[in-house]
Amino acid sequence: MMRHNFDELVDRRGTECKKWDTYAEDVLPMWIADTDFKCPQPVIDAMVKRAQHGIYGYPVNVKTFEQAIINWQKKRFGWDVDINWVEYTPAVIPAIVYAMQAFTHPGDNIVVQMPAYHPFHAIIPNNGRHILGNNLILKEDGSYEIDFENLEELLSQQRTTMFLLCSPHNPTGKCFTREELTRISDLCLQHNVFVVSDEIHSDIVYNGNKHIPFGSLSQAAADNCVVCVNPSKTFNIAGVRTGAAIIPNRHNHDLFYKPLENLKAYGRTVFGTLPIETAYNECEYYADQLLEYLEGNLAYLKKFISERIPQIKVGNPQATYLIWLNCQELNMAPKDLQKFFLEQAKVAMNEGSTFGPGGTGFMRMNIACPRVRLVEALNRMEAAINKL
Ligand SMILES: Cc1ncc(COP(=O)(O)O)c(C=O)c1O
Repeated sequence: MMRHNFDELVDRRGTECKKWDTYAEDVLPMWIADTDFKCPQPVIDAMVKRAQHGIYGYPVNVKTFEQAIINWQKKRFGWDVDINWVEYTPAVIPAIVYAMQAFTHPGDNIVVQMPAYHPFHAIIPNNGRHILGNNLILKEDGSYEIDFENLEELLSQQRTTMFLLCSPHNPTGKCFTREELTRISDLCLQHNVFVVSDEIHSDIVYNGNKHIPFGSLSQAAADNCVVCVNPSKTFNIAGVRTGAAIIPNRHNHDLFYKPLENLKAYGRTVFGTLPIETAYNECEYYADQLLEYLEGNLAYLKKFISERIPQIKVGNPQATYLIWLNCQELNMAPKDLQKFFLEQAKVAMNEGSTFGPGGTGFMRMNIACPRVRLVEALNRMEAAINKL
């Protein structure tokens, strides 16, 4: 089996890289959700080969992209997806906006679990809909529970037409169980609320937890959802701006897709679909090794923090490489917390209050980097906290 070297240090500065080129040279960026790992060698080879062909004319859809999405859902999660359910989208956030426009009206309510991935806070009001926050409940051990009573209350409101699920959940790292997803599905069906399930983090699920595609729960769930996927987080290809929507119900499919056809907004790109097809068809080894490496990073971080920075609490992340650090004991206002880590520790992370309710006092740290960088970031954080 091919082995990938996740310890390799790759200089990303000067590549129009949002993560690295946003901050000064002396700052370690541990924020935005892409990895510092090279993508799999077969992906690089396929891109180089295609580039060397030298002609990049109009592509025709021969369904190999759709087939790659199907293959991955089947082999990783056991979900049988039909080829007619899959549509190319220019990444996940646009797909969520398309779904919002297809299945809701301006003025409607969209329910989102809080804290929530920050772009959700923008795309909903920017499209004239209201966000209703269903706050996740933080437990003593740092894990999160769903407040089903509140959820039902929000879903039952007359203008609530969509539930935007983030599964697994960014930023809390929660991996939803079958029981939780089934209960969500039942409540949404009962109250006639359509589900959009953002499953972009589904490959990064830690030992003992299991990702369950929303559309695989039951026929009724499948008929009431759009599942958005993208291998970008796993294989570090977010910059190719390509993803897919899986819409099992034909009527829903047409509601979602017809407006895109009318806009001619379905134009896939030569360098967008190729890395996805190659990654999904040839690079399962990479996803397995990435997970193993991230488990090592997570174990290192948890041990380091509990032994050397007890003012921070990590909890027990179940999924994603975005680790939700509870820094409430530092007793700093959100702006000061961000400033403290950036200016004193020289570590850039996402500040928790930008994720909405439940985020104040938290920082989100991206641990998808070679271990030495993680060690350096933690050492910097410890030294800065010791000076307080
Ligand atoms: C939950 C979630 N959804 C969507 C995205 C962005 O997806 P895309 O780049 O495919 O639009 C991210 C990126 O961090 C994310 O964490």
